[in-house]
Amino acid sequence: MAFGTLLFRVVRMPALRERLWKLAYESFPRLLPDADWWFMNYGYEPTDAERYQFGTLDEQQFQWRSRAMYHYLAARAPIAGKDVLEVGSGRGGGLRHVAETMHPAAATGLDFASSAIAFCHKNHAGAPVRYLEGNSMDMPFDGATFDVVLNVESCHAYRDQAQFFREVARVLRPGGQLFLVDVRADWNWDLLHQWLTEAGLVVREDSDISPQVLTAIERDEPTKKALIRKRVPFWLRGIFTEFAGNVGSQLYERLKTGEIQYRRVVAQRPA
Ligand SMILES: C[S@@+](CC[C@H](N)C(=O)[O-])C[C@H]1O[C@@H](n2cnc3c(N)ncnc32)[C@H](O)[C@@H]1O
Repeated sequence: MAFGTLLFRVVRMPALRERLWKLAYESFPRLLPDADWWFMNYGYEPTDAERYQFGTLDEQQFQWRSRAMYHYLAARAPIAGKDVLEVGSGRGGGLRHVAETMHPAAATGLDFASSAIAFCHKNHAGAPVRYLEGNSMDMPFDGATFDVVLNVESCHAYRDQAQFFREVARVLRPGGQLFLVDVRADWNWDLLHQWLTEAGLVVREDSDISPQVLTAIERDEPTKKALIRKRVPFWLRGIFTEFAGNVGSQLYERLKTGEIQYRRVVAQRPA
Protein backbone atom coordinates (compact mmCIF):
# COMPACT_ATOMS: atom_id res chain seq x y z
CA MET A 1 0.00 0.00 0.00
CA ALA A 2 1.35 3.45 -0.91
CA PHE A 3 2.47 5.52 2.06
CA GLY A 4 -0.05 8.28 1.28
CA THR A 5 -2.97 5.82 1.25
CA LEU A 6 -1.80 4.38 4.55
CA LEU A 7 -1.79 7.87 6.06
CA PHE A 8 -5.46 8.31 5.13
CA ARG A 9 -6.46 4.90 6.60
CA VAL A 10 -4.77 5.83 9.88
CA VAL A 11 -7.10 8.84 10.23
CA ARG A 12 -9.75 6.45 11.55
CA MET A 13 -7.47 4.97 14.26
CA PRO A 14 -6.96 7.71 16.87
CA ALA A 15 -4.40 6.01 19.15
CA LEU A 16 -2.21 4.83 16.26
CA ARG A 17 -2.66 8.19 14.51
CA GLU A 18 -1.37 10.04 17.58
CA ARG A 19 1.67 7.77 17.91
CA LEU A 20 2.55 8.13 14.23
CA TRP A 21 2.26 11.91 14.26
CA LYS A 22 4.25 12.16 17.49
CA LEU A 23 7.02 10.07 15.95
CA ALA A 24 7.00 12.22 12.82
CA TYR A 25 6.88 15.60 14.57
CA GLU A 26 9.57 14.63 17.07
CA SER A 27 11.79 13.54 14.16
CA PHE A 28 11.39 16.50 11.80
CA PRO A 29 13.42 19.09 13.73
CA ARG A 30 16.21 16.53 14.15
CA LEU A 31 16.19 15.49 10.48
CA LEU A 32 15.70 19.06 9.23
CA PRO A 33 17.35 21.38 11.71
CA ASP A 34 17.46 24.28 9.17
CA ALA A 35 16.94 27.45 11.21
CA ASP A 36 14.99 29.24 8.46
CA TRP A 37 12.42 26.42 8.03
CA TRP A 38 9.71 27.96 10.20
CA PHE A 39 6.48 26.40 8.90
CA MET A 40 4.84 23.00 8.37
CA ASN A 41 1.56 23.87 6.66
CA TYR A 42 0.49 23.53 3.02
CA GLY A 43 0.37 27.25 2.33
CA TYR A 44 -2.34 29.74 1.40
CA GLU A 45 -2.75 31.96 -1.66
CA PRO A 46 -4.61 35.09 -0.52
CA THR A 47 -7.40 36.51 -2.66
CA ASP A 48 -7.19 40.07 -3.99
CA ALA A 49 -9.89 41.09 -1.52
CA GLU A 50 -7.85 39.72 1.39
CA ARG A 51 -4.70 41.46 0.17
CA TYR A 52 -6.71 44.68 0.08
CA GLN A 53 -8.34 44.15 3.49
CA PHE A 54 -5.48 42.60 5.47
CA GLY A 55 -2.38 43.86 3.64
CA THR A 56 0.27 42.02 1.64
CA LEU A 57 3.34 40.05 2.68
CA ASP A 58 6.85 40.08 1.30
CA GLU A 59 6.39 37.45 -1.42
CA GLN A 60 10.14 36.95 -1.79
CA GLN A 61 10.41 35.61 1.75
CA PHE A 62 11.17 31.90 2.19
CA GLN A 63 7.88 29.94 2.75
CA TRP A 64 5.79 33.11 2.36
CA ARG A 65 2.60 31.18 1.53
CA SER A 66 2.85 29.19 4.77
CA ARG A 67 3.28 32.50 6.57
CA ALA A 68 0.21 33.71 4.66
CA MET A 69 -1.79 30.81 6.15
CA TYR A 70 -1.27 32.49 9.54
CA HIS A 71 -1.52 36.06 8.40
CA TYR A 72 -4.91 35.75 6.71
CA LEU A 73 -6.30 33.67 9.57
CA ALA A 74 -5.12 35.75 12.52
CA ALA A 75 -5.82 39.09 10.77
CA ARG A 76 -9.54 38.19 11.09
CA ALA A 77 -9.23 38.16 14.88
CA PRO A 78 -8.84 41.06 17.20
CA ILE A 79 -5.18 40.32 18.12
CA ALA A 80 -3.77 43.68 19.25
CA GLY A 81 -3.61 43.82 23.05
CA LYS A 82 -5.10 40.32 23.44
CA ASP A 83 -3.76 37.13 25.03
CA VAL A 84 -3.14 34.66 22.23
CA LEU A 85 -2.48 30.92 22.40
CA GLU A 86 -1.49 28.71 19.48
CA VAL A 87 -1.99 24.98 19.96
CA GLY A 88 0.29 22.92 17.69
CA SER A 89 2.75 25.75 17.09
CA GLY A 90 5.30 23.49 15.37
CA ARG A 91 8.49 25.26 14.30
CA GLY A 92 7.09 28.47 15.75
CA GLY A 93 7.29 30.83 12.78
CA GLY A 94 3.55 31.39 12.43
CA LEU A 95 3.02 32.59 15.97
CA ARG A 96 6.19 34.67 15.75
CA HIS A 97 4.78 36.36 12.64
CA VAL A 98 1.50 37.06 14.44
CA ALA A 99 3.29 38.38 17.54
CA GLU A 100 5.67 40.62 15.59
CA THR A 101 3.12 42.07 13.18
CA MET A 102 -0.19 42.11 15.10
CA HIS A 103 1.03 43.03 18.61
CA PRO A 104 -0.89 40.85 21.07
CA ALA A 105 -0.43 41.49 24.82
CA ALA A 106 1.17 38.04 25.03
CA ALA A 107 1.64 35.08 22.67
CA THR A 108 2.03 31.47 23.84
CA GLY A 109 2.77 28.47 21.62
CA LEU A 110 2.04 24.93 22.80
CA ASP A 111 3.23 21.75 21.09
CA PHE A 112 3.57 18.14 22.20
CA ALA A 113 6.84 17.59 20.29
CA SER A 114 9.71 18.43 22.62
CA SER A 115 12.09 18.73 19.66
CA ALA A 116 9.81 21.36 18.07
CA ILE A 117 9.83 23.36 21.31
CA ALA A 118 13.64 23.06 21.51
CA PHE A 119 13.81 24.29 17.88
CA CYS A 120 11.68 27.32 18.82
CA HIS A 121 13.76 28.16 21.89
CA LYS A 122 16.90 28.05 19.76
CA ASN A 123 15.65 29.83 16.64
CA HIS A 124 13.09 32.31 17.96
CA ALA A 125 15.04 33.49 21.02
CA GLY A 126 14.25 37.15 21.53
CA ALA A 127 10.89 36.98 19.71
CA PRO A 128 7.90 38.15 21.80
CA VAL A 129 6.56 34.60 22.16
CA ARG A 130 6.89 31.87 24.79
CA TYR A 131 6.90 28.28 23.55
CA LEU A 132 5.83 25.49 25.91
CA GLU A 133 5.70 21.74 25.64
CA GLY A 134 2.27 20.28 26.35
CA ASN A 135 -0.63 18.30 25.00
CA SER A 136 -3.67 19.86 23.37
CA MET A 137 -5.95 17.55 25.32
CA ASP A 138 -4.64 18.57 28.75
CA MET A 139 -3.37 22.12 28.50
CA PRO A 140 -1.16 23.51 31.27
CA PHE A 141 -3.20 26.70 31.72
CA ASP A 142 -5.80 28.04 34.15
CA GLY A 143 -9.33 28.48 32.86
CA ALA A 144 -10.26 31.75 31.10
CA THR A 145 -6.63 32.71 30.30
CA PHE A 146 -6.81 33.53 26.57
CA ASP A 147 -8.84 35.77 24.25
CA VAL A 148 -7.81 33.99 21.05
CA VAL A 149 -6.77 30.40 20.32
CA LEU A 150 -5.15 29.62 16.95
CA ASN A 151 -4.91 26.10 15.56
CA VAL A 152 -3.25 25.60 12.19
CA GLU A 153 -3.33 22.19 10.48
CA SER A 154 -2.95 20.35 13.74
CA CYS A 155 -6.15 19.06 15.36
CA HIS A 156 -6.75 16.25 12.82
CA ALA A 157 -3.79 14.53 14.51
CA TYR A 158 -5.20 14.55 18.07
CA ARG A 159 -6.29 11.31 19.70
CA ASP A 160 -9.36 12.85 21.36
CA GLN A 161 -10.49 15.94 19.46
CA ALA A 162 -13.67 16.33 21.55
CA GLN A 163 -11.44 16.70 24.61
CA PHE A 164 -9.32 19.29 22.77
CA PHE A 165 -12.38 21.44 22.11
CA ARG A 166 -13.45 21.12 25.77
CA GLU A 167 -9.97 22.37 26.68
CA VAL A 168 -10.29 25.28 24.23
CA ALA A 169 -13.64 26.24 25.79
CA ARG A 170 -12.05 26.06 29.25
CA VAL A 171 -8.96 28.22 28.52
CA LEU A 172 -10.85 30.84 26.48
CA ARG A 173 -12.27 33.83 28.30
CA PRO A 174 -16.01 34.41 27.82
CA GLY A 175 -16.41 35.95 24.36
CA GLY A 176 -13.00 34.58 23.30
CA GLN A 177 -12.59 32.93 19.91
CA LEU A 178 -10.96 29.91 18.30
CA PHE A 179 -9.53 30.40 14.78
CA LEU A 180 -8.82 27.06 13.16
CA VAL A 181 -7.72 25.83 9.73
CA ASP A 182 -7.51 22.14 8.94
CA VAL A 183 -8.04 19.51 6.27
CA ARG A 184 -10.38 16.51 6.51
CA ALA A 185 -13.29 14.70 4.83
CA ASP A 186 -16.95 15.76 5.02
CA TRP A 187 -17.91 13.21 7.69
CA ASN A 188 -15.01 14.43 9.78
CA TRP A 189 -16.05 18.10 9.43
CA ASP A 190 -19.52 17.11 10.64
CA LEU A 191 -17.93 15.51 13.68
CA LEU A 192 -15.86 18.63 14.32
CA HIS A 193 -19.04 20.73 14.38
CA GLN A 194 -20.60 18.29 16.81
CA TRP A 195 -17.56 18.42 19.13
CA LEU A 196 -17.47 22.23 19.06
CA THR A 197 -21.14 22.43 19.97
CA GLU A 198 -20.84 19.83 22.72
CA ALA A 199 -17.93 21.82 24.17
CA GLY A 200 -20.20 24.88 24.38
CA LEU A 201 -18.58 26.79 21.51
CA VAL A 202 -20.69 28.58 18.90
CA VAL A 203 -19.57 28.34 15.26
CA ARG A 204 -19.31 31.85 13.76
CA GLU A 205 -17.74 30.96 10.42
CA ASP A 206 -17.03 27.87 8.34
CA SER A 207 -15.43 28.55 4.94
CA ASP A 208 -14.05 26.14 2.38
CA ILE A 209 -10.60 27.53 1.54
CA SER A 210 -9.48 24.51 -0.52
CA PRO A 211 -9.07 26.58 -3.74
CA GLN A 212 -6.60 28.94 -2.02
CA VAL A 213 -4.65 26.01 -0.59
CA LEU A 214 -4.59 24.15 -3.94
CA THR A 215 -3.31 27.26 -5.70
CA ALA A 216 -0.60 27.66 -3.06
CA ILE A 217 0.46 24.01 -3.48
CA GLU A 218 0.62 24.39 -7.27
CA ARG A 219 2.52 27.69 -7.22
CA ASP A 220 4.95 26.46 -4.56
CA GLU A 221 5.60 23.15 -6.33
CA PRO A 222 8.89 24.05 -8.08
CA THR A 223 10.33 25.67 -4.94
CA LYS A 224 9.20 22.84 -2.67
CA LYS A 225 10.54 20.18 -5.02
CA ALA A 226 13.92 21.86 -5.24
CA LEU A 227 13.97 22.36 -1.49
CA ILE A 228 13.19 18.71 -0.77
CA ARG A 229 15.93 17.63 -3.22
CA LYS A 230 18.42 19.95 -1.59
CA ARG A 231 17.63 19.55 2.10
CA VAL A 232 15.79 16.26 2.74
CA PRO A 233 17.87 13.07 2.97
CA PHE A 234 17.40 10.82 -0.09
CA TRP A 235 15.67 7.98 1.84
CA LEU A 236 13.07 10.37 3.29
CA ARG A 237 12.06 12.18 0.11
CA GLY A 238 9.06 9.97 -0.81
CA ILE A 239 7.52 10.20 2.64
CA PHE A 240 8.30 13.88 2.87
CA THR A 241 6.63 14.60 -0.47
CA GLU A 242 3.41 13.11 0.97
CA PHE A 243 3.72 15.05 4.22
CA ALA A 244 4.45 18.25 2.30
CA GLY A 245 1.32 17.68 0.17
CA ASN A 246 3.15 18.22 -3.12
CA VAL A 247 1.37 17.97 -6.47
CA GLY A 248 0.56 14.28 -7.01
CA SER A 249 0.42 13.42 -3.30
CA GLN A 250 -2.70 11.79 -1.84
CA LEU A 251 -3.47 15.04 -0.04
CA TYR A 252 -3.32 17.08 -3.24
CA GLU A 253 -5.35 14.59 -5.31
CA ARG A 254 -8.09 14.22 -2.68
CA LEU A 255 -8.29 17.96 -2.15
CA LYS A 256 -8.62 18.43 -5.89
CA THR A 257 -11.51 15.97 -6.25
CA GLY A 258 -13.27 17.41 -3.19
CA GLU A 259 -12.98 14.15 -1.24
CA ILE A 260 -11.38 16.20 1.51
CA GLN A 261 -11.70 19.92 2.16
CA TYR A 262 -9.44 22.50 3.70
CA ARG A 263 -11.57 24.83 5.81
CA ARG A 264 -11.36 27.81 8.10
CA VAL A 265 -13.58 27.64 11.17
CA VAL A 266 -14.15 30.35 13.77
CA ALA A 267 -15.94 29.42 17.00
CA GLN A 268 -16.68 31.49 20.07
CA ARG A 269 -17.16 30.89 23.77
CA PRO A 270 -20.38 32.78 24.54
CA ALA A 271 -19.82 36.00 26.49
C1 LIG B 1 1.30 20.07 10.45
S1 LIG B 1 2.10 20.64 11.88
C2 LIG B 1 1.66 22.35 11.82
C3 LIG B 1 2.60 23.20 12.63
C4 LIG B 1 2.30 24.69 12.56
N1 LIG B 1 0.97 24.96 13.04
C5 LIG B 1 2.49 25.22 11.16
O1 LIG B 1 1.49 25.51 10.49
O2 LIG B 1 3.62 25.34 10.72
C6 LIG B 1 1.12 20.03 13.25
C7 LIG B 1 1.69 20.35 14.64
O3 LIG B 1 0.77 19.90 15.64
C8 LIG B 1 1.51 19.33 16.72
N2 LIG B 1 0.65 18.39 17.45
C9 LIG B 1 0.11 17.23 16.99
N3 LIG B 1 -0.59 16.63 17.96
C10 LIG B 1 -0.52 17.42 19.06
C11 LIG B 1 -1.05 17.33 20.38
N4 LIG B 1 -1.80 16.28 20.76
N5 LIG B 1 -0.80 18.35 21.25
C12 LIG B 1 -0.04 19.41 20.87
N6 LIG B 1 0.51 19.53 19.64
C13 LIG B 1 0.27 18.56 18.74
C14 LIG B 1 2.68 18.64 16.03
O4 LIG B 1 3.76 18.39 16.89
C15 LIG B 1 3.02 19.65 14.92
O5 LIG B 1 3.97 20.58 15.36
